[in-house]
Amino acid sequence: MRSRFMTGTAPMTLSVAPRKQLLDTRLEVSGGQRLAGELRVSGAKNSALVLMAACLLTRDTLRLRNVPPLTDITAMGEILAALGVRVTRSGDTIDLDGESITRAAPPYELVNSLRASFFCIGPLLARMGTAQVPLPGGCQIGSRPVVEHVKGLKALGAQVTIEHGVVTASVPGRGHRLTGGHIHLDCPSVGATETLMMAAALADGETIIDNAALEPEVIDLAGLLTAMGARVQGAGTPTITIDGVQELHAADYAVIPDRIEAGTFLLAAAITRSSLTVGPVIPEHLGAVLTKLEEAGCLLHQDGTDLHISASEIRALDLRTMPFPGFPTDLQAPFMSLLATANGTSLVVENIFENRLQHVAELQRMGASIRMQGNTACIEGVARLSGAPVHGTDLRASAAMVLAGLAAEGVTTVRGLEFLDRGYAHLEDKLNAVGARIRRLGDPA
Ligand code: EPU
Repeated sequence: MRSRFMTGTAPMTLSVAPRKQLLDTRLEVSGGQRLAGELRVSGAKNSALVLMAACLLTRDTLRLRNVPPLTDITAMGEILAALGVRVTRSGDTIDLDGESITRAAPPYELVNSLRASFFCIGPLLARMGTAQVPLPGGCQIGSRPVVEHVKGLKALGAQVTIEHGVVTASVPGRGHRLTGGHIHLDCPSVGATETLMMAAALADGETIIDNAALEPEVIDLAGLLTAMGARVQGAGTPTITIDGVQELHAADYAVIPDRIEAGTFLLAAAITRSSLTVGPVIPEHLGAVLTKLEEAGCLLHQDGTDLHISASEIRALDLRTMPFPGFPTDLQAPFMSLLATANGTSLVVENIFENRLQHVAELQRMGASIRMQGNTACIEGVARLSGAPVHGTDLRASAAMVLAGLAAEGVTTVRGLEFLDRGYAHLEDKLNAVGARIRRLGDPA
């Protein structure tokens, strides 16, 4: 039977553009334009991805609103569809009907293209008592282990083996239900916290997760799980307590605004020494970023869920990435583009991912003066960057290149859009609407 939500809505397109075409696509950014106006922020990618996986916890339909139109979201939809979930997308709303899940083993090709698909292991195990998920492997920014996820699932009674690159997990005993347990995470991993929250929601008894991640996306997941009938307390603090329930039910839930997209927009204003309004934002989600923007000399003013930013001179500063509420690693590269144009010398330390400074070489091609030592970049601001062909080496590095291009003299050609399109919805259209000059050029041949 078709999902009741499928009627009258356009079914989701379950294919991503071919890789070759994406690789040959580029943005041509004509720098030097002042920006003015209002930029609207989409729903948070990193929330939406995990909330989508939560549909596996119930036989009922989960309706998610404010889901951003991104290739990562499409990929997650494909993975859920491969498990038997009916996925229906209409605008920024997605209905996920997990009534008849047919398998507990997402295919390697799909998992490999989207690390976040590893999220499926928690809810699959909780609902089906078994899950077989390929190890997602590393990516451009680091090795990205899943040790904490696996350790936590074992603490909930799962038997887990890793062989031939596949994590096989099962729950022994009658009923194949996980049992609550006490988990202490060695590091406050966002993904591990989320995986274990979903697994614990359907476990027998109480689960305590200590040293849990504090990120807003964890709180958003707790909000959804609660709407589905779960008993979750303490999300947003280092100790999360989940009292397992027998089953979860349908929910209609809106994803929080994307704090990283919002931060990128604020940086677009700063790097072009412009004034912009950015919204909707939840300012508490951006605390460390707003503090650093003010330290750099930007003027910020909050008006409800809108933030007004106005920038003229930019001062150098030091920043180090930390888990929330520290400065987010996902805005380190975009902020470095700004610091490349600041008055004075800045230090940026990347503490979260071991390989997330690859954009330095690209910024240097645009005339930035940056020295590197280990995970630290020392940036001497220059009067002007110069446009050049550059390559975004990961999602946030690609955004950093676009920002640098907005401020540079001449034309910057940004490649690496297969990354950019994973996390920014219509970035060039949004920026062009406030005065940027960015053209997307494709060469499908
Ligand atoms: N870590 C371990 N062991 C583990 C798990 C993580 O050592 O078992 C380490 C990682 O190697 C890393 C650190 O802990 O050094 C943080 O990793 P975490 O697990 O918190 O990150 P994640 O869940 O894999 C999410 C976001 C990332 C974001 C990070 C940090 C999603 C889908 N991804 O990744 O987003 O950078 O949290 O905030 O939620 C992006 O959007 O560009 C992006 C990479």
